[in-house]
Amino acid sequence: MNETMKTILNRRSFRAYKPEQIKDQELQTILEAGKFAPSGMNTQPWHFSVIQNKDVLNKINGIVKEGLLKSGNPQMAGRAKDENFSIFYHAPTLIIVSADPKVPTPQFDSAIALSYMFLAAASLDIGSCWIQAISVAFNSESAKPMLKELAIPEGYTIYSAGAFGYPAVEAPAPAPRKEGTVSFIK
Ligand SMILES: Cc1cc2nc3c(=O)[nH]c(=O)nc-3n(C[C@H](O)[C@H](O)[C@H](O)COP(=O)(O)O)c2cc1C
Repeated sequence: MNETMKTILNRRSFRAYKPEQIKDQELQTILEAGKFAPSGMNTQPWHFSVIQNKDVLNKINGIVKEGLLKSGNPQMAGRAKDENFSIFYHAPTLIIVSADPKVPTPQFDSAIALSYMFLAAASLDIGSCWIQAISVAFNSESAKPMLKELAIPEGYTIYSAGAFGYPAVEAPAPAPRKEGTVSFIK
């Protein structure tokens, strides 16, 4: 099997990370992969905010935690009540993908860019996980004052975010794949 397929098949979402920061060169490789993702009409509408500052990470986690406690979703609120709660599983690096909402396909473009970054990370034995609650919490009115601190370009929307770091656990087994998801019309 070629290396690309091995990376695709072995990538897993990790939910426990070592505190040690990933190397700058590894981060650059991950970002390069994101930049080389395809985008609708080649708009490359994304902006990647790489957050490695512990105070800023704590602040982001606090905002999400507050949102989840008020969400009315008992499961999410219960999770947020845990004093060790971290929406990004204590990963040392968080990449927030924002994009210009005026292009034709910003949500797809952002998702593909993040997926490319996940695959690049996996190829370097770096764990990653999509963190959906970031886009929910940070597109709300109350989080607006923090968008500048996160270097989100004016008018951009946050579409996706990913946690990155060295895994603190073994890779989980892959989820079973659904049957019947392919039709051949030859
Ligand atoms: C759009 C999207 C949103 C996701 N949101 C979250 C999330 O908020 N938190 C989380 O722990 N995992 C999240 N995941 C990861 C999925 O749970 C994970 O990809 C799925 O269970 C399959 O596991 P695998 O990535 O290890 O193959 C998300 C994945 C996608 C594609």
